[in-house]
Amino acid sequence: MSVSKGLEGIIATESSICSIIDDKLTYAGYSIDELTENATFEEVVYLLWNRELPTQEQYEALRKELAENMAVPQGIIDHLKSYDLSKVHPMAALRTAISLLGLYDEEADVMESEANRRKAVRLQAQVATIVTAFSRIRKGLEPVTPKTDLTFAENFVYMLNDKEGEDIEIEAIDKALILHADHELNASTFTARVCVATLSDVYSGVTAAIGALKGPLHGGANEQVMNMLTEIGSEENAIPYIEEKLANKEKIMGMGHRVYRTGDPRAKHLQEMSEKLTKLHNQEELYRMSVKIEEYIKEHKGLPANVDFYSASVYHSLGIDHDLFTPIFAVSRMSGWLAHILEQYDNNRLIRPRADYTGPALRSFVAIENR
Ligand code: COA
Repeated sequence: MSVSKGLEGIIATESSICSIIDDKLTYAGYSIDELTENATFEEVVYLLWNRELPTQEQYEALRKELAENMAVPQGIIDHLKSYDLSKVHPMAALRTAISLLGLYDEEADVMESEANRRKAVRLQAQVATIVTAFSRIRKGLEPVTPKTDLTFAENFVYMLNDKEGEDIEIEAIDKALILHADHELNASTFTARVCVATLSDVYSGVTAAIGALKGPLHGGANEQVMNMLTEIGSEENAIPYIEEKLANKEKIMGMGHRVYRTGDPRAKHLQEMSEKLTKLHNQEELYRMSVKIEEYIKEHKGLPANVDFYSASVYHSLGIDHDLFTPIFAVSRMSGWLAHILEQYDNNRLIRPRADYTGPALRSFVAIENR
């Protein structure tokens, strides 16, 4: 048996959802660059779930369906209010709330494809409500009821702030949602597929995925990037800080990628947004600091910035709490997880790799009193 640690280079499934070829990222054949410039998040959700862009009518139907399904059962809100949110990471709260959501869904274990699609809509809609409700409840505020005439990004900002967002804010959130929507067999998507390949239900699949996304080597990196930038504090401190981290063999969050070698195609869009938004909010030093770090790591380690690096300063400039960065990633990636879960059900086989055993050789059992 040959082992590929971390399954590097292993092709574990066929998929028609998303491709990464020669460091270019596409969703169902459309370049991420074109989608980011021209599409809305709802169009991308439709694309990921159907492999075609929606007509105007199909787009409006999905937009409306998502907006109308955003309200969560009162039990979810009561649950969020029942514990001390100041001591809980929002990703842990989100994981548990999404799992709890399954208990309120009478179709949770119905495996027909139409029922799974209806659950996908509910989950995509309600993940936004849970993240924003968490944020408000921990500030002592009431959750905001979504508006059915708003887009997904508009409702997200509205539910977060109880105020409709400025155009530039909505545009930034919409683009960030598009850029994070799917990424082939990343760790959380693979986790979701492994889970549902046992023919477990959709809620179990996305709950498992949220658990995987939470880790700092995956989605948790964006919050860590912001912690790092805060710790660095000033532009002149950036390089000495990074040098020390590297000398201590510590990883620089937001840098490096398992698949990309020349650069993460999502990072340049977030960099542009970061430049624009930090300027608008008088936080240009944050941007300059980020550029310095990126250039240094590229030159000294040959590693590119990944999606999490500039998303940190984008979300910070929008005034979003740092520990909500990864939950926002989850709001977006929910669309990709669901696409992959539905694709897995459509052509399922149990995912069950092998391990190369390295433990003791066969030996005889020794009774407990003789050990
Ligand atoms: N900072 C410093 N060194 C890094 C690094 C980083 N962010 N990422 C990788 N490296 C180095 C490793 O130390 C290792 O060096 P070595 O061979 O001298 O030991 C080499 O590059 C390979 O790293 P490895 O962790 O084995 O690569 P991977 O493919 O398993 O990991 C990541 C990919 C993304 C997990 C990794 O780059 C990382 O931890 N990045 C920081 C976390 C992050 O931003 N995650 C979000 C990903 S979108």
